[in-house]
Amino acid sequence: MESKSDTAAHHIPVMVSEVISLLDIHPDGIYLDGTIGLGGHAKQILSQLSLNGRIIGIDLDEEALDICKQNLHASSSVSLFRASYSAFPQILARAGVSAVNGILLDLGLSSLQLDSRKRGFTYSCEGPLDMRFSSQGTITAEELIRDSSEKELARIIWEYGEERYARRIAKYLKLAKRVSCVSELKEAIRRCTPPSHRNRTYARVFQALRIAVNNELDQLKKFLDLFIDYLVIGGRIVILSYHSLEDRLVKLKFRELKQKGQALILTKKPLRPSAMEIQANRRSRSAKLRAAERIA
Ligand SMILES: C[S@@+](CC[C@H](N)C(=O)[O-])C[C@H]1O[C@@H](n2cnc3c(N)ncnc32)[C@H](O)[C@@H]1O
Repeated sequence: MESKSDTAAHHIPVMVSEVISLLDIHPDGIYLDGTIGLGGHAKQILSQLSLNGRIIGIDLDEEALDICKQNLHASSSVSLFRASYSAFPQILARAGVSAVNGILLDLGLSSLQLDSRKRGFTYSCEGPLDMRFSSQGTITAEELIRDSSEKELARIIWEYGEERYARRIAKYLKLAKRVSCVSELKEAIRRCTPPSHRNRTYARVFQALRIAVNNELDQLKKFLDLFIDYLVIGGRIVILSYHSLEDRLVKLKFRELKQKGQALILTKKPLRPSAMEIQANRRSRSAKLRAAERIA
């Protein structure tokens, strides 16, 4: 059986050297990691901090936070909070912090979540159709499929998965007697889509449902509208996103802040992982990194 530490051992943080170099860490600074996960990036940030430096770490996933605590050896420089990163102003207030020197958001899923047989995040791992980042989240993917109309499901699959057979898939999902586990969802998709590139079709539908279950785009929009006021002048933000819908929101917000004279964009085009990194960690392949600095 897989132990927590085995799971933690095979989560590989993405584009670590780029993240650390763009954050331009000040040893005495305060850093917000809004999706701290298992603490892979945070560990590297921590290694650059003095005893006066501090990390405020947020994640929705209780299990990830437990492992993160172990991975960071319960360092007194790190404060962990179970919350959505979109609620970061309240978390900073609770931590007695009014502004930070740097913010990291590493969106998407950790290996802990992807490989879990209890959560149904991917088509390659059988399990119940849960897909919530937090067990305290409101609605599971099974409930979403059951309670949404065919039209609403088609919208979700089209908008969040950019899947051309969205309407057909939604119809089959509503016709199916039960869609409560990964194999049942795959079977419904299989019955109504052509066999070519089927895994990509699965991936798009799973992504769409996950985004809807966790209300991911609204969380990101809420965060993007707020973060600049909580960065010190000269403070930096680095965001790693894993699909075009998120990356687009980040790009547009950075551009807006640049036009207002509030931010300098540090990455003209999003940075991508090197071929070597992708070879070593296939899960990094869709990452896009954007960074900006507050200038006013
Ligand atoms: C790619 S992982 C982060 C991995 C981390 N950087 C590391 O190196 O271990 C993304 C994390 O974001 C968390 N997450 C997703 N949406 C969130 C939200 N709205 N608020 C807080 N955490 C969220 C997930 O639970 C997951 O642990």
